[in-house]
Amino acid sequence: MKSERFSKIGFVLAASGSAIGLGNIWKFPYMTGENGGGAFVFIYLFAIVFIGISIFLAEAAMGRLSRADSVTTFESLAPKNGAMWKYAGFMAFTGVLIFSFYTVVIGWIFKYIYVVLTDLPKNVEDAGALFGNMVTTDTTGQMAFYTLAFLVSFYVVSRGIKRGIEKLNLILMPLLFLILLFLLFYSFTLDGFGESMRFLFVPDFSKVTPLSILSAVGQAFFTLSLGMGTIMTYSAALPKDANLVRSSFSVAFLDTAIAIIAGIVIFAIIFSFGAEPSQGAGLVFISLPPLFNQMDMAGVVIGVGFFIALAFAGLTSAVSIVEPTTKYLTDRFGISRIKALLVLGFLTYILGTLALISNIEALKSHVTFFGKGMFDLLDFSTSSILLPLGGLIIAIFVGFVVEKERLIRLLGDQMPKAVFNTWYLLLRYVVPICIVVVIANQLFFS
Ligand code: PHE
Repeated sequence: MKSERFSKIGFVLAASGSAIGLGNIWKFPYMTGENGGGAFVFIYLFAIVFIGISIFLAEAAMGRLSRADSVTTFESLAPKNGAMWKYAGFMAFTGVLIFSFYTVVIGWIFKYIYVVLTDLPKNVEDAGALFGNMVTTDTTGQMAFYTLAFLVSFYVVSRGIKRGIEKLNLILMPLLFLILLFLLFYSFTLDGFGESMRFLFVPDFSKVTPLSILSAVGQAFFTLSLGMGTIMTYSAALPKDANLVRSSFSVAFLDTAIAIIAGIVIFAIIFSFGAEPSQGAGLVFISLPPLFNQMDMAGVVIGVGFFIALAFAGLTSAVSIVEPTTKYLTDRFGISRIKALLVLGFLTYILGTLALISNIEALKSHVTFFGKGMFDLLDFSTSSILLPLGGLIIAIFVGFVVEKERLIRLLGDQMPKAVFNTWYLLLRYVVPICIVVVIANQLFFS
């Protein structure tokens, strides 16, 4: 089977489309709010620069060297006696778990496009009640929007990466960027702007706990789409002469900028309205609608634009979450995309439904495990455990198993020798030690 290839700009677009998603605009602000602000942001930025970019480049190099699905990639880059490594490629299946709750959230966003058009809440209390009611009581409504999100995502994936996604990203990512910039300028005028900046950038390290460190590192993986073969799979479709180093830095930079801008805007609104930053997963759904309401007609236009752009940012990521397993099934078993997606769709639809139900007050007791509802469990186990673990495996694999010569041949003329050596050192020692310490710290000392 001849695989499709991205154009040069198409790869950076698709990789940014994958990276920039709900993780930046929905998750980053609410996690920062829950984990006390500046100190969390500080650890997050540290993790992006020292761990995230290194792993990004490692994954990209693996995909580019093998040009295959994740399982075949580990298999083909391992030495003859390293047959076991192929099992590492199954990290792609983390995507099935992420996709399930991710689509539930895209469903909420679809619903909010409708909310902005019909009845915007007037203040933060009303907005909180509206969001709370939807999530904890409205099973049918949520199922309808979730199913829609699910079908749209699968339809896009079924068209392949190039025809659907590359084009979609080209139009919608700049649109999202513009709307966010507009909101940023608007937030300069709000009373809460100064407090928002202090909250985000003045760290109070007394608020740091083992769990918040783990969450910040996990979030760095989640937001850059690392640790489950997404970047590997996309890089397998890179054109020959693409510059991996430059692309990795560009994607990480764009991704971080969007998360920070979203954070500044959302907290400026939160503090202007005197609301609480630590309201969890509802934060963006609660903080923005009252502002749109205040802006009258313009607010409706911007509000609809914002949620549509957010939905598409989510969709371009959703596609990249299923693509690794899709490629694995099509390339290894020679089946069609549609067949692969039917198999994956069956699994994810059931899991996603369980995740949705786990937030419904009357039903949640049936889907609670280890004291966590299915939704939270899927979110926590993937972001905080499975993705960092995937990253650890990738770091060790590229640092110790893949021949150094091959890496030098691929990347040698894309970066100065000193930078290559620093990267290699980070991969071999710093990244693995950090990940192990962070996970162990959470398991044993919290
Ligand atoms: N990076 C995406 C986001 O921030 C989520 C994602 C995770 C995508 C893992 C692919 C793989 O929303």
